Amino acid sequence: MELHGTATISANGHLAVGGVDTVTLAREYGTPLWVIDEEQFRRNCRAFRQAFSSDLFPAGAVVLFAAKSLLALAICRIVEEEGLSLDVVSGGELHTALAAGFPMDRVYFHGNNKTQAEIDEAYQAGIARFMVDNLHELDLLEGPGRTGSGTRSGAGRVPVTLRVTPGIDADTHDYVKTGQQDSKFGLDIAGGQAMGAVKRVLDAPHLDLKGLHCHVGSQLFTTEPYAGAAEVLMDFAAEVRRRTGWVPEEIDLGGGFGVRYSNGDAPLEPEAFARAISRAIGKKVSETGLPFPRVIVEPGRAISATAGWTLYTVGSIKEIPGIRTYVAVDGGMTDNPRPALYQAVYEACLANRAGETVDGRGTGGGRTVGGSGTGGGHAAAEVFTITGRCCESGDILIHDIALPRPVPGDILAVSCTGAYNSTMASNYNRLPRPAMVLVNRGQVDVIVERETYDDLVARERLPVRLRRRASARRASAG
Ligand code: LLP
Repeated sequence: MELHGTATISANGHLAVGGVDTVTLAREYGTPLWVIDEEQFRRNCRAFRQAFSSDLFPAGAVVLFAAKSLLALAICRIVEEEGLSLDVVSGGELHTALAAGFPMDRVYFHGNNKTQAEIDEAYQAGIARFMVDNLHELDLLEGPGRTGSGTRSGAGRVPVTLRVTPGIDADTHDYVKTGQQDSKFGLDIAGGQAMGAVKRVLDAPHLDLKGLHCHVGSQLFTTEPYAGAAEVLMDFAAEVRRRTGWVPEEIDLGGGFGVRYSNGDAPLEPEAFARAISRAIGKKVSETGLPFPRVIVEPGRAISATAGWTLYTVGSIKEIPGIRTYVAVDGGMTDNPRPALYQAVYEACLANRAGETVDGRGTGGGRTVGGSGTGGGHAAAEVFTITGRCCESGDILIHDIALPRPVPGDILAVSCTGAYNSTMASNYNRLPRPAMVLVNRGQVDVIVERETYDDLVARERLPVRLRRRASARRASAG
């Protein structure tokens, strides 16, 4: 496993993150535990801000953090402090941003099936942009009081950007591809739907068309899909200008910037994407004469993934001689559904014995501890399968990881779990969701409390007739 962010091995051989001993964290806050490395999260925010703030973008650039990858009140505050804007996709995410006091003029509302109530709330809150996905949403935007002008304090018309499908098939898992023509998202350019929507927005006196958006997919390792999408959007914009005279103020190329989960992943720096996007748009600016638009990007995973660690306690160990050894931990697909959903590969180490297996290898010169996710690793290590505790054979967190032989009570630290783990967690098998702690320079803050068993039944109601029957039965039995 490669050490990244602020992770180090302490003198006592324990894994430390943010200057905090993870074994102490596990003891004090229990496991499973989500640990967020604040410094690493901030570094990732800054890397994107810097890459997209240079003269590569003459009309400026905006970086939105995709809240779907990691969200909590404290996360909103950090995102705000780092000067990023926020991409939300639901009333719940919007509510979290509101509760955190996140500035609404930096909130962009995505999603392919927003409800009328969500649209009304977002409108009242004064969000920066509705990222309109489809024609139905345009109907909903004609809500009460909006077809006149100037109803929103000082803001006038509703600012919208249209999400289009550029027809780009990105090289990633089918479930996280979104730019191809056959997608549930966005207005189809090739079939003419996107042009129809543009005309409709331009004809609507209450709507202000700001730009065009697309998102081609997630966990991408090359710049081509972004450059390709930028060119398609600019060509489409040129066609729109020819037919209507409208020119886009902004072009949003979505998120999807890949991260390193394990040895097979070779992510690019944000600068590489910034340069490729700038070059592709610049080329179309010279070809078409369109003005250089403001550029928007929406990284989620590339900011949150490497900032997260999950700590588990090892429990039962089942050895099937000559076949496999299963090492069960106290979480699994409930706190990290990604291996089960996308065959995602993770790396891990034994946090309380990290010093036993430090070696100098690993990609990019980074120090590695324990095994690699692919079965290589330290000479003294054996290969194990890490399973979760759910009643599912598919609840396997890591296939074939090389580790020193675990024993019950060891603490397993899985790296790179900051994105799409807590936000996709469930209560399957009635497992309470873990707590989340923020660590930074030796300080620990609980930012999400662990769910309790009482939380699990708190929203349940027992119909009176069922309650009566149970007490009647008890009375007759007594
Ligand atoms: N913008 C839009 C419009 C999106 O749909 C997404 C992700 C993002 C930005 C952020 O993408 P990111 O930079 O985080 O890759 N649950 C899956 C990922 C689903 C991504 C959905 N949309 C996973 O765990 O891999």
